[in-house]
Amino acid sequence: MNDSPIGVYDSGFGGLSVWREIHRALPEESLIYLGDGKNCPYGSLAEDRIRELAVNAVRVLIDRGCKLIVVACNTATSAAISHLRATFPHIPFVGLEPAVKPACERTRTGVVGVVATERSLTGAKFLSTLARYGGGVRVVKAVGRGFVEAVESDAENAPETEAAVRAVVDPVIAEGADIIVLGCTHYPFLRDTIKRVVGDRGVEIIDSGEAVEKRVESLLAEYDMHASGEATPVFEFLTFADDAYRERLRRKAFGI
Ligand code: DGL
Repeated sequence: MNDSPIGVYDSGFGGLSVWREIHRALPEESLIYLGDGKNCPYGSLAEDRIRELAVNAVRVLIDRGCKLIVVACNTATSAAISHLRATFPHIPFVGLEPAVKPACERTRTGVVGVVATERSLTGAKFLSTLARYGGGVRVVKAVGRGFVEAVESDAENAPETEAAVRAVVDPVIAEGADIIVLGCTHYPFLRDTIKRVVGDRGVEIIDSGEAVEKRVESLLAEYDMHASGEATPVFEFLTFADDAYRERLRRKAFGI
């Protein structure tokens, strides 16, 4: 048993899609969410820079006593997770990866679309996952241009966001994809818009939120670190941006 909080880190709002999954499944766990905000988006930053930002953020979470840290950002995971594990060997980390494996197992057309940031799609980790699970399946990669910015500015349902989504999703479907993998934690906030764009074309949209939550549960069990259930859970929101941003994080987490 351990009543210390779980840390959840992202470049901004995106990791809140993971935060929600964890909170839904493990309501007794205290959570500290750190949404950088100041340096977002990370998607096209150099790997070195992302590593530096990630170490900084994780240090803040460790200083707050986090027992486990979820890097709820595909981009930061791709650029920094090995470095984080080596730098903080006493902390269990959970990283985010596009759900390529289930998509490749489930596709009926043999074509899978993966939409993510530029950094994630070119990272060594993604390429090795593709090599491992993508055999016999054609994977169409697409950068979600403008997606992160839309979520960061609360413009999920704006007409220009729908146009940006259409510009990315239509060509992927035209290639024959019957599954689209959301490979960035910001994108689940665009799910309704993506669904609208997909319409009745029979395309499934999947993300990694639930799989990550399951991984958190299994690590809590492995290290015997579940919250005791005796303390009232505490939910904190931190950022390198300003107080207004922190308040927006809190509201988006609870969907208010
Ligand atoms: N939420 C992020 C991800 O999962 C990062 C997006 C960004 O900052 O570009 O990749």
